[in-house]
Amino acid sequence: MSDLENPFQETLLQRHRADPCTVVIFGATGDLTNRKLIPAFYNVAACGDLPPQFKVIGFARRDKTDEVFRKELEEGNRKNSRQPHTDELWASFSQGIHYHRSEFEDPAGYVKLKLLLDQFDKERGTPANRLFYLASAPEAFKPILEMLRATGLNHGVGGRWARVVCEKPFGKDLATARGLNQAVAETFEEKDTYRIDHYLGKETAQNIMVLRFANALFEPNWNSKYIDNVQITCAENLGMEGGRGGYYDTAGALRDMVQNHLFQLLSLVAMEPPTDLSADSVRDEKVKVIRALRPLVGPEAVGANVIRAQYTAGSVDGVSRVGYRQEDRVNPESQTEAYVALRLYIDTWRWQGVPFYIRVGKQLPKKATEISVHFKKPPQVPFATGRLPGSSENTLVIRIQPDEGIALRILAKQPGQALSMQQVKMDFRYSSSFGKASPEAYERLLLDAMAGDATLFARRDEVENAWKFIDEIEHAWHQSAAPPPMCEYPAGSWGPKEADDLLRQDGHEWRLL
Ligand code: BG6
Repeated sequence: MSDLENPFQETLLQRHRADPCTVVIFGATGDLTNRKLIPAFYNVAACGDLPPQFKVIGFARRDKTDEVFRKELEEGNRKNSRQPHTDELWASFSQGIHYHRSEFEDPAGYVKLKLLLDQFDKERGTPANRLFYLASAPEAFKPILEMLRATGLNHGVGGRWARVVCEKPFGKDLATARGLNQAVAETFEEKDTYRIDHYLGKETAQNIMVLRFANALFEPNWNSKYIDNVQITCAENLGMEGGRGGYYDTAGALRDMVQNHLFQLLSLVAMEPPTDLSADSVRDEKVKVIRALRPLVGPEAVGANVIRAQYTAGSVDGVSRVGYRQEDRVNPESQTEAYVALRLYIDTWRWQGVPFYIRVGKQLPKKATEISVHFKKPPQVPFATGRLPGSSENTLVIRIQPDEGIALRILAKQPGQALSMQQVKMDFRYSSSFGKASPEAYERLLLDAMAGDATLFARRDEVENAWKFIDEIEHAWHQSAAPPPMCEYPAGSWGPKEADDLLRQDGHEWRLL
């Protein structure tokens, strides 16, 4: 890897590789550990980037031995690891995995945890850094933090650090997020707090900053003078599989995806250039975007700019799907949205008058996340074209997933006598340009948390400002006298027609994916 590619990451890796580390996962019997966390650590191990004498302690309520826990994780790793699972690597890697049974509120469980951590340090002959990963149900976060504080586990030993990683959901509104932030702040300093948003770990999301700030080409055009509108789509072709309905029906698309993932993407697209790449400089700029969002207050403003919807029965990929309200663990009279589309304005000099359209939904025709930047048409076109709509045919598409890459659509002359034009595509694909698979988001984020780099994690003020904005919409939906309607779309379609109308009002259309 050349210096140009990433000197910053190289030093971080070197720095953290030297120090031993133990990760304690609270709620370790959940799906996340099996599907994401252990495969991520395994892949990091396969790349040779794990710290020496690395250990994982799974902390959960169910009774099981280390062997049973390892066996379950092995099955998960075979299915979910990015790199091939080999018995040899698994045998050495899994020796560092242990299980600790305890209730989350039981002080004795934390005293025993401390003894276990001390025992590992003794066996190593040196104290280890400690990373506490909150992957339990969110109600357990506060008791866990209290117990860590009561046992002094929130402080590193022997000059090593202790840090906390908080999984989402980080609260369900501003009040609960503030309460949680308070509990975290009483236990860990902000610099040791890592609120995870796995979208920030996606390779293409990280590339947004490089695209914008390492190329002189785009930044001069990246403003209201040249950009007509920006669209962010996050489509999923799944519904409430795997018993997710229970959680999802208490959250909905706005809380589950927009408050965190989509606002993070929006911030990266709309932020000003940071003065340097330090975690705080980057996050200072990102939070300014969220703070500059024009508030949507009251049912009228919300109704005019936000469309919520539930899917009805339909079919995706030729497979029939039930409607949202018929899904397992979903209230048959649910008022929770499985789809949301928003028109947002960012009140800054750069973005005055540019609509940002965001849409996210379940049971859409395919899984795809992309950002498209639609440029304005040229001031004057010296060709008889027949077709040059309001926004031009110049579109920059950042494909977050799948088929990660960036495409620029421009007009070109069709070969032949006549001067007719056609849209063509200049395409960069990660898979062909770099010839190797990108690391999974969790690999990058776990390494960053161990390396002490919080750039790709949400800061307290980012989370709270995002909730502040979202709360007004939720309030208009659920607490106003005349709430905006809940629309419908058949599973397998691209969402409700009202979301198309939202753009049509401005003379725009959703980009076809
Ligand atoms: C999670 C949401 O944070 O992100 C899920 O809770 C969603 O509802 C998932 O399906 C999408 O993540 P990805 O990486 O598959 O796009």
